[in-house]
Amino acid sequence: MASATATGQRLAGRHILLGITGSIAAYKAAMLCRLWKTAGAEVQVVMTPLAKQFITPLTMATLSKRPILVEFFNPENGAWNSHVSLGEWADCYVIAPATANTLAKMATGVADNLLLTTYLSARCPVVVAPAMDLDMYAHEATQQNLRTLAARGVRIVEPGEGELASGLSGKGRMAEPEEIAEFVGQLLSEPKEEKKTLSGKRMIVTAGATIEAIDPVRFISNHSSGKMGYAIAGELASRGADVTLISGRTALPVPPGVERVDVLSAAEMYEAAVKAFDTADGAVMCAAVADYTPESVSATKLKKGDGEMCIRLRRTRDIAAELGARKGNRLLIGFALETDDEEAHAQSKLEKKNFDFIVLNSLRDAGAGFRGDTNKVTFIDRSGCEELPLLTKREVAARIADRIEGLFAR
Ligand code: C5P
Repeated sequence: MASATATGQRLAGRHILLGITGSIAAYKAAMLCRLWKTAGAEVQVVMTPLAKQFITPLTMATLSKRPILVEFFNPENGAWNSHVSLGEWADCYVIAPATANTLAKMATGVADNLLLTTYLSARCPVVVAPAMDLDMYAHEATQQNLRTLAARGVRIVEPGEGELASGLSGKGRMAEPEEIAEFVGQLLSEPKEEKKTLSGKRMIVTAGATIEAIDPVRFISNHSSGKMGYAIAGELASRGADVTLISGRTALPVPPGVERVDVLSAAEMYEAAVKAFDTADGAVMCAAVADYTPESVSATKLKKGDGEMCIRLRRTRDIAAELGARKGNRLLIGFALETDDEEAHAQSKLEKKNFDFIVLNSLRDAGAGFRGDTNKVTFIDRSGCEELPLLTKREVAARIADRIEGLFAR
């Protein structure tokens, strides 16, 4: 049995997502939640619609001190319950009790409730505690599903033997809450496996908006938040790359292990990027660089007059195209933000700037764009397109890093 102190030390501050399905053993989920809360963990409960028949949302919300989630959205105000964010929030996703039905759906990828969509999105360790009658548990279909899930890395807390709700006696009774809590405590105290797959690689990432001064007070800029570039820099560094982040002005914190070079204008970004590229193995061009800059910058604040004002602009240098011209066997990845005829424009940039691949985002897609935390992108290279679903910027960064790893491995 878990000692409260040992479990507490491991679980304090950890995020546990507790999935409850429609089984009589759902009452034990209340005790499980309580154990975790006492140990200092944050618990978010997700229930299947049927689970509500076995234990009330009120009980679970009171114990977890958070509203429980059942539906894809809140029918009262339309607020979306994001399974992607839930999966990201969690350090561990524990489905207890897990019915034969839910295990079968997990094994085949059925996604017809929030608990299941969250399973498909979760990147954290997933634990299931099966609970069912002995014949259902012993059935080859269930056993096959459990083998499939185990082969995919899902951890199984085996059911115990004993009296079952059906009146029969045998294996199928959900493991006791203390046993599940202990299992999860141990799992979360295992050191995280870090993929240092980009060790020894020097990468540049440009991010954020440039600022083109008009006078000491005014400037021309754009809405880029820098979030996408910062996520990429962080992801590459977490995989062991030596990352230089050449950043326009943002309020974002520097990701761990990343060296940031602050710049303001497109000209400054050009100088910094060209210099760093000499010794780099690759670059991801994520910055929203001004295409035009005032021909001259007034040393004093421009005074307003009665009439119109004209500011003459000249072209800035294209940093990505310059790196593309001197690329050699280094990697170069670009972004394209388009509002119309997206694929054709992205394809032409891929060629013009000599990118290995380009990440296209369209302002027409909901969830894609400047300040949000999600993005909807398509990867385009010379062999075709890969359209990704709506993902968080962190997940998009991980997909980009996966591709970069693949290109280095060629
Ligand atoms: O031509 P466009 O600005 O749409 O191209 C976008 C891509 O080129 C992005 O990867 C962006 O970071 C990069 N770029 C650049 N320097 C510029 C303009 C764009 O690096 N002056």
